Amino acid sequence: MKASGRFTLDDRLPADYFTTTLRSDVLAGLGAQPRTLPPKWFYDKRGSDLFEQITLLPEYYPTRAEQEILVERAPEIAALTRAVTLVELGSGSSRKTRLLLDALSAEGTLRRYAPLDVSATALAEAGRAVGRDYPGLHVSATVADFETDLVLPPEAGPRLVAFLGSTIGNFDSGQRASFYRTLAGAMSQDDVLLLGADLVKDSETLVRAYDDAAGVTAEFNKNVLHVLNRELCADFEPAAFDHVALWNEHEERVEMHLRSRIAQTARIPALGLSVEFVGGDSVRTELSCKFRRDSLTAELHAAGFMVHHWWTDSSNRFALLLTGRRGHEL
Ligand code: SAH
Ligand code: AVI
Repeated sequence: MKASGRFTLDDRLPADYFTTTLRSDVLAGLGAQPRTLPPKWFYDKRGSDLFEQITLLPEYYPTRAEQEILVERAPEIAALTRAVTLVELGSGSSRKTRLLLDALSAEGTLRRYAPLDVSATALAEAGRAVGRDYPGLHVSATVADFETDLVLPPEAGPRLVAFLGSTIGNFDSGQRASFYRTLAGAMSQDDVLLLGADLVKDSETLVRAYDDAAGVTAEFNKNVLHVLNRELCADFEPAAFDHVALWNEHEERVEMHLRSRIAQTARIPALGLSVEFVGGDSVRTELSCKFRRDSLTAELHAAGFMVHHWWTDSSNRFALLLTGRRGHEL
């Protein structure tokens, strides 16, 4: 645990996280058909910086849409929850979170902010900045993988658990069900979940958001190859892959792929693995599921959550949901 002033950073990632978890994800993902890689490996320092650039792109509407809802609803969220601790899963830069911190501070209840992210650099930078800008607030950051080690910090309640940005959409329905179950088990009866979810809309808007004209999303997508090259001494040639974003109408999700332009073999000596591509072969690197009100409410209900509020931006692109454990009234 590292501490400075009101900021602490607890690194819960096992010492062998990269050697063990990355290796097994890559072996399982590249050894199967269709080839896949989990999106959490995008987020080294460069990947986190690229994601921040994505949030500023004209085509990437989700951040601005969610921000619009937070600007309008944060005071109401603060009044309804009277949270003493704000926990945030996948907090990244914590930029939008400041709207919640401001509202909860104005409400007079907030004592602690507990961001959790797998990206240690993003977390340390954002957590320190929040600690600096909110004197009197304790910031206790945790580096952890919320897929395999979802432990809520044992801070004073009621806790508001924010999971913003539609990061929930990066899970498929089976992963979401297991994530909700674990989260419901970790939350106390008076804790509340604030969930950001991107909504189904026309495919042109969706694909443009994941295939921007400046090519930032393409760089973000290819960053996973740089991570494999660095961590596993692999020899992927990022320039020999095309970034592909497509709308899967049947599954209602945007998918990102890396498609090999040529016939090539990538070697991953750390795994004793060679991955052969013929031109046009691809690796699926991310799912970004889009949601509808009825089905999202139903899947949360099945996991023991009750949706108390469903707010959208003025163009109905994005939803912010305030949900509690079933049996808890707001
Ligand atoms: N909440 C921010 C950032 C979203 S980007 C926003 O709304 O803009 C997704 C964030 O989740 C990144 O910071 C990434 O590092 C983190 N993340 C992705 N997979 C994760 C995992 N399995 N465990 C913990 N954090 C994860
Ligand atoms: C973090 N996550 C919700 C983003 C998304 O929209 O799926 C990541 C991203 N991928 C491409 N652009 C942004």
